[in-house]
Amino acid sequence: MRVLGIETSADDTGIALIDANGDPPVGGRSGFQIRIIADERISQSAHRAYGGIYPNLAKKEHAKNLPLLLKHIVGVYETTTIDAIAVTVGPGLEPCLWQGITFAQELAQEWSVPIVPVNHMEGHIVVSMVDFGSNPDTSFSNEVSELGLHELEFPVVVLLISGGHTELILMKDFGTYKYIGRTRDDAVGEAFDKVARTLGLPYPGGSEISRLAAEARNQGDALMMPKLPRPMLHDDTFDFSFAGLKTAVLRIVKKEEMTDELRRQIAREFEDAVTDVLAAKTMRAAEEYGASAVVLGGGVSANRHIRAEFSSMLRAAGCKLLVCPPAYSTDNALMIALAGYFHALNNNFADPATLSANGSLKLDQKT
Ligand code: KG4
Ligand code: ZN
Repeated sequence: MRVLGIETSADDTGIALIDANGDPPVGGRSGFQIRIIADERISQSAHRAYGGIYPNLAKKEHAKNLPLLLKHIVGVYETTTIDAIAVTVGPGLEPCLWQGITFAQELAQEWSVPIVPVNHMEGHIVVSMVDFGSNPDTSFSNEVSELGLHELEFPVVVLLISGGHTELILMKDFGTYKYIGRTRDDAVGEAFDKVARTLGLPYPGGSEISRLAAEARNQGDALMMPKLPRPMLHDDTFDFSFAGLKTAVLRIVKKEEMTDELRRQIAREFEDAVTDVLAAKTMRAAEEYGASAVVLGGGVSANRHIRAEFSSMLRAAGCKLLVCPPAYSTDNALMIALAGYFHALNNNFADPATLSANGSLKLDQKT
């Protein structure tokens, strides 16, 4: 089945084309294969100057980018045999989602192809289940062809961490999700971005903080600032809270004279605090629900320190870690095409006329 994926939920525009075959390999059965034919993206760096995403500006960018990306794909690859169009319908910024949806509707009509509505967060989950090979840093090249999914035994615990989401989910099967914990205030990515801004770093700040934190670790200096809190680390829910961390950083920044060294130390201590809480709660969830694996997904899972800490913690516990190469952690259309393929297998097509965006779509809701 050849699937075209379209992603416009936030500030990245993506179109991808995949060939996929077979069912997902559950409990050791295999047969599923995916070939990534094209994976095109345009990141809207224009917004960085404003320090955030402006929905109507982002929407205009998607309107401009989608035809460009499609033109490129159609010019290079065989698109007359497309079997389905997968498009993100939520969660995300509704003006942006609508831009992708109307684009998909026009294509579906022109090509007489069915549309599969996709939940963006499910895209983050399924792409982390792809077996990209032994090198976790693989950045995909179009020559790499047939990829399978990791073998899985359900249940698995999923931790989704992105700019808008921080969720612990129990996944009992493909397509079956139960929320077991979530953030009570800011999402992790949002906290990274806000702290980055407080430190005078550019948007989006996650990767900047991570870079400074790595420098501080390499230098191995003792911590010269107060330790930051580990919010909700010891309470007995699976919920999170990150707003207090941001305030704690602000307090230090207001009091101390900022130096490069202090900036590096704050980045490192902030990254450590976030990682400690995420790791402890995820581990407890995996133990309580008898999960054979933890799936880590969303833009923040590109973070090297978080990946490394999860990897050693889970290895010690005999639990698998499924996480995709960092290049696929942030928003892309490959993950949408992939999730779309699984839904197309179950004939979850939408009536193009009634398709609509849902900015707060949940994983346990029908798309
Ligand atoms: O999933 P994503 O691309 O978009 C949303 O759906 O939100 O996630 C974007 C978020 C941003 O907050 C960004 O700062 C964060 O992911 N991020 C990172 C890293 N790379 C991206 N956070 C921490 N460390 C990183 N290396
Ligand atoms: Zn995302």
